[in-house]
Amino acid sequence: MNKKELLHAATTVMNNAYVKYSNFKVGAALLTKSGRIFTGCNVENSSYSATICAERVAFTKAISEGESEFEAIAIVNSSDNFAYPCGICRQFMSEFGLDLKIFISNDKELREHTLKELLPFAFTEFKSGT
Ligand code: THU
Repeated sequence: MNKKELLHAATTVMNNAYVKYSNFKVGAALLTKSGRIFTGCNVENSSYSATICAERVAFTKAISEGESEFEAIAIVNSSDNFAYPCGICRQFMSEFGLDLKIFISNDKELREHTLKELLPFAFTEFKSGT
């Protein structure tokens, strides 16, 4: 897997973020086990809670194209800080496996985690094999 390529894809799509309210751009690039990359950016809404995060946009794009097995996701943002996935995104992503690798960059440093680390004691009641 080419981490640099994944981070580059996340950075490119971040520029398309629709952030009229927070001005905080997030970009995500999701690598499928089959080797495809799906990108997503955050899309905000005047009814704030209708906003969707970059991570969930990438996932829904991939799933709607028939993918359901994922290797890694790269997440970047427009500030100097690390943008860790929000709780809703952690739960959403956990549906598709806790072994997902998560690369988070603040443009200077790259941190690597697994979803399992970011969502310990995940809710797995209806899932088999977890
Ligand atoms: N945001 C993401 O895109 N991903 C996250 O995991 C955290 C938050 C977005 C949502 C909103 O557009 C902006 O960042 C500020 O919360």
